[in-house]
Amino acid sequence: MKKVGFYVSNLVQRVLNYGKFRNEFLGRLPQRFHGAAKLLFYFTFTAEEKKLASEIESFRSKIPALSTAKEVYSYTSPHSNTFKTDEKGKALPGEYIGSSVEGHMKTGSSKFNGILLRRIVAGAGVKRILELGTNTGFSGCYFLSVPGTELVTIEGSDTLCEIAKINMDRFSDKHRIMNMLFDEAIDVLLAEKASFDCVFIDGQHEQKATLHYTQRVLPMLKPGALIVHDDIYWSDDMHAGWQKMVQDPQFSETVDLFYKGICVVGNGTAPKAHYDMGEYLPRPEIFRKNW
Ligand SMILES: C[S@@+](CC[C@H](N)C(=O)[O-])C[C@H]1O[C@@H](n2cnc3c(N)ncnc32)[C@H](O)[C@@H]1O
Repeated sequence: MKKVGFYVSNLVQRVLNYGKFRNEFLGRLPQRFHGAAKLLFYFTFTAEEKKLASEIESFRSKIPALSTAKEVYSYTSPHSNTFKTDEKGKALPGEYIGSSVEGHMKTGSSKFNGILLRRIVAGAGVKRILELGTNTGFSGCYFLSVPGTELVTIEGSDTLCEIAKINMDRFSDKHRIMNMLFDEAIDVLLAEKASFDCVFIDGQHEQKATLHYTQRVLPMLKPGALIVHDDIYWSDDMHAGWQKMVQDPQFSETVDLFYKGICVVGNGTAPKAHYDMGEYLPRPEIFRKNW
């Protein structure tokens, strides 16, 4: 019943704020983010996006046949305030837990979140993407479906890396899967002097971990590059981390798209701008209460 109430109030707000969103918000939001913001407001895919999302989704039913092991291990998203580093200052991951291979048919980006990522990347003209958290490769497929993109993606679970490779190979071979912990792989990339136009941080959803990885990837990004954070409404703690990034002077622009938060790397001189869909639509509830 609570859910129905939320959907009704959501619909009413959409209708009431339609003109304000179109004229006021889109009037000041940089053009490169319009596609993503419109998806949130109008909730509709183009015919091309519908076809692509169905093609990407068709892989889910094939996942159980791809693993001989009954259980597939992955790193869980840890509780708030559990972030720890080793003696060298390297981040320790969350727990490594096995779950049924069937369970992994449901994980990773949904159609909606995948198309949202795709619109962010396509709108900003991003070409080189780094992803923290491959899982079974669904977000990777959405990235690689944008013509001209290349993806480096990091995943600690070897079985998930194997599944993700088969999944992403359907769209492009311009990907490199690093089967390592995030901090180990970032060390390798820094030593290689790698650089990216966009980093998608989608693993270890905890404030201190998120802020840690944000600082670690910054040396690989030039002004104008994007850091896209997943699940900024995951927990109160993750949301507090997002609010710190909104205040962080290293970013010239931040965009709150509810399911993703975008930070644009600044050059230290541009004035700070924040764009917030919460001014036009009801914010999502915090997903994990007391997490
Ligand atoms: C939420 S899933 C990624 C979903 C994927 N980006 C998508 O949208 O389809 C997070 C993944 O990150 C991996 N992970 C979490 N913490 C990690 C760490 N510290 N190092 C390596 N992998 C990690 C987990 O094993 C899990 O598969």
